[in-house]
Amino acid sequence: SVNVNDPGLITLVNKLQDVFSTVGVQNPIDLPQIVVVGSQSSGKSSVLENIVGRDFLPRGSGIVTRRPLVLQLINKPAPIRQNGDTDELKTSDAASNADEWAEFLHIPGKKFFDFNKVREEIVRETEAKTGKNVGISPVPIGLRIYSPKVLTLTLVDLPGLTKVPVGDQPKDIERQIRDMVLKHIQKPNSIILAVTPANTDLANSDGLKLAREVDPEGTRTIGVLTKIDLMDEGTDVVDILAGRVIPLRLGYVPVVNRGQRDIDSRKAITAALEAEKAFFENHRAYRNKHSYCGTPYLARKLNMILMMHIKNTLPDIKARIQASLAKYTAELQQLGDSMLGNSANIVLNIITEFCNEYRTVLEGNNQELSSNEL
Ligand code: GDP
Ligand code: NA
Ligand code: MG
Repeated sequence: SVNVNDPGLITLVNKLQDVFSTVGVQNPIDLPQIVVVGSQSSGKSSVLENIVGRDFLPRGSGIVTRRPLVLQLINKPAPIRQNGDTDELKTSDAASNADEWAEFLHIPGKKFFDFNKVREEIVRETEAKTGKNVGISPVPIGLRIYSPKVLTLTLVDLPGLTKVPVGDQPKDIERQIRDMVLKHIQKPNSIILAVTPANTDLANSDGLKLAREVDPEGTRTIGVLTKIDLMDEGTDVVDILAGRVIPLRLGYVPVVNRGQRDIDSRKAITAALEAEKAFFENHRAYRNKHSYCGTPYLARKLNMILMMHIKNTLPDIKARIQASLAKYTAELQQLGDSMLGNSANIVLNIITEFCNEYRTVLEGNNQELSSNEL
């Protein structure tokens, strides 16, 4: 499947969670949140939706995203079923799989199994706070998706950067949106997807400019080039990908999302991803590097960054556990009880074993990340 929720990474995080719950601590691995930034209609919502691999975000020309959407993906293992239950579930269509549902923070307790209804509710709730016109609001919509197939991770969709107020928009709309975006991307723990349409000049990219303000070293900014399919005949983004225009440490990924006509004809996400794959495989400029193009590669890149994050966090977590172990051991010795100290040691051994088991995975990803230049 094409999303950040690569099974390998899910397994890894779940195993870590098991280890931590053995130690009796809440999962201390705080995975980064993924935030999209870019000008209006650059394709931010489309990119996020493709990464998640589900149709649920309002998209379209003009200012469609008018409030931040904070989307929490929550890994929830499927319940083990009795024989007989499974057939019934197999026949239900993909849009209403009983193991995957969404909940809005403003409607506690209501489960949405139909993701078209999720989109309708986002539109309704946007209008409830901003009116039917083109107003914006910094108050986020909170949405959670529970599924056995996702990694527990937060993604943030934001209104696009814009310059000229339209309709009833306030005179300072540019600053309002800018402040709203900055608030979300300045967190050191956020990975910035700076989205720029390939049919515009990269030097004018509002997304890249703002990303650079909060991440001057480029350690957490990925360039995403959308609308590759709309570029003029004979032009391509090869120079940008090679880092010859505005170099970015983590590089650029070109993607092809669904166009307005695809949205109107309700083209399915799977069909869109197949079309994207075919586009890069057959294009004169990209076919010899098609594996570095498209949504699956963007998802893999995000995966590698998450792996690195886990790898970088583990030593600190281990040190913290070791420190508290030393403290408790000392206390226990005063009480003259060495039994509990021993069981804590066993837990530390589990973590060490775990780190060894995953060393190759973690280091392998590290290498792949540094050698992925085109
Ligand atoms: P946002 O305003 O940045 O969130 O952009 P949306 O995701 O809502 O997309 C804005 C418009 O651009 C929609 O009509 C999309 O169909 C269209 N669009 C986005 N990405 C692409 C792309 O890669 N190719 C084409 N042809 N259209 C795209
Ligand atoms: Na838009
Ligand atoms: Mg949008």
